[in-house]
Amino acid sequence: MVKQSKSLVYFFNNREEVEEKIWSLFKDALLIKDSPFKTPVFSNIQDGKPSAKTVVLRSIDKTSKTLFFHSDYRSAKIHYLKIDPICCLTFYNKDEKIQLRVNAQTKIHYQDHISLTAWQNTAHYSRKCYLIDQAPGKILESPGNSLPKEFLENGYTMEESEIGYKNFCVIKCSIISIDWLYLAAQGHTRAVINYKNTKNRFSWIVP
Ligand SMILES: Cc1cc2nc3c(=O)[nH]c(=O)nc-3n(C[C@H](O)[C@H](O)[C@H](O)COP(=O)(O)O)c2cc1C
Repeated sequence: MVKQSKSLVYFFNNREEVEEKIWSLFKDALLIKDSPFKTPVFSNIQDGKPSAKTVVLRSIDKTSKTLFFHSDYRSAKIHYLKIDPICCLTFYNKDEKIQLRVNAQTKIHYQDHISLTAWQNTAHYSRKCYLIDQAPGKILESPGNSLPKEFLENGYTMEESEIGYKNFCVIKCSIISIDWLYLAAQGHTRAVINYKNTKNRFSWIVP
């Protein structure tokens, strides 16, 4: 039987291309409605155990290698991130066949210029989660979302939504390293970009 020769992986086989693709996927997540990179899984250590949760990627900064998402300041993750600020953000794009595992150091921005700017740009409907009376994770006697009765019944104006700012924060994730995995029919490829190690910034590794 004659063996069919298969061409080698023909894209994402140089480091510049990999890094460019990563940041273009992050950018697409902000611009394209259904981008799978819009909702990464954020993991951190809570009470000694891994805790993974879906979040919405809200902004990026390629120059400082940072990613941002929003959260309720009263949520459990904030308490635990103050104890251990290291996190992992996992992204997967099925069509592109690319997985990224981003290790980062978090910083919580609460009642500062970063949180204020983000809050001012937060749409009316997105402010709803910050209007709930009780902290996320609190036990309720019956199913519900703890939204004040008047808001539940009559909705709320943009002005009324301002009280949500006291519950709002921005989590900045300063990237330490990115583990890139590209699933290719010809053979997967994997690489690590280490933003904190200038000597050994990029390595190909066994997938
Ligand atoms: C599609 C989707 C998007 C979400 N986006 C966020 C988000 O941007 N920020 C956030 O704090 N929680 C978000 N959540 C809720 C979290 O997954 C999680 O349930 C919540 O933050 C409580 O986590 P904690 O108890 O570990 O703090 C989202 C959930 C889903 C399903």
